[in-house]
Amino acid sequence: MKLFSSVHDVTNIKALVAEALQLKQNPYAHQHLGNNKTLGLVFLNPSLRTRMSTQKAATNLGMNVMVLNIDKEGWALELRDGVVMDGDTVEHIREAAAVMGQYVDIIGVRSFPGLKNRDEDYNEVIFNKFIEYCGVPLISLESATRHPLQSLADLVTIEELKTKPRPKVVLTWAPHIKPLPQAVPNSFAEWMCRADVDFTITHPAGYELCADFTKGATITTNQEEALADADFIYVKNWSAYEPYGKVFPGNEDWMLTNQKLKNTNNAKVMHCLPVRRNLELSAEILDGPNSIVVHEAGNRVWAAQAVLKQMLENL
Ligand code: CP
Repeated sequence: MKLFSSVHDVTNIKALVAEALQLKQNPYAHQHLGNNKTLGLVFLNPSLRTRMSTQKAATNLGMNVMVLNIDKEGWALELRDGVVMDGDTVEHIREAAAVMGQYVDIIGVRSFPGLKNRDEDYNEVIFNKFIEYCGVPLISLESATRHPLQSLADLVTIEELKTKPRPKVVLTWAPHIKPLPQAVPNSFAEWMCRADVDFTITHPAGYELCADFTKGATITTNQEEALADADFIYVKNWSAYEPYGKVFPGNEDWMLTNQKLKNTNNAKVMHCLPVRRNLELSAEILDGPNSIVVHEAGNRVWAAQAVLKQMLENL
């Protein structure tokens, strides 16, 4: 594997999930693979889980790791071609990405969407420039439209904790106070549509995701109906795809509560984190027996390690 930017880069999803679960049982079995190899983690946006879990995964494989919070610690990047750089930007992404590729064997990049220009975000303008110029294998640490390391960890978690061969998995929209990207729900939907699960998406009218990511899912604006008999519930807020980046007033009653769990199959509740308590997800669920959010975050290590292992094997 040379690129991990979406589920489309994975030739065998089942095998990758199985590999992650094997690595969880035996984390240090492949330390030789990363000998004298360096992973660079470049963040244009904040991170707790992605940063720490990917760093841990790389060290489990014997790699060295460099982390650059380029938004705070690097030179201000110019992304446009053909401009006279007489403004605030100091370094062009052409040189910056190419130079990083001189120092590392694999690079990870986090680049959130601006949520202002849909074409720019959905064409992954920043992320694709890193692919074009860095010259080394690249892992998405969350791009404008997808978060594949999160989605792989989510699928690993479902595979690990399911109690029936084909569980019902429900992605439910949740309230928030500000517009959030569609990357996590897009990506989760894309992976679930290719997994052996019965997959439903529920959201208020107006929050339809881009259809490219949801082919094969059942989609409904009736949350109560969607949650019936659910085995796993994935809670997440997102802003509208059309009109792009907008949020609509109301819908506070979409927050998941213990009352809403009553009609489910004692569903396990997931969230990628960070989560705003009692706004996006109730504290009674987060602190109760149905929440698996911390376990899910723990599995980020094994997802990242499985991807890094496949990349190291192909260097
Ligand atoms: N879920 C996730 O990606 O968390 P961070 O933003 O903290 O990395």
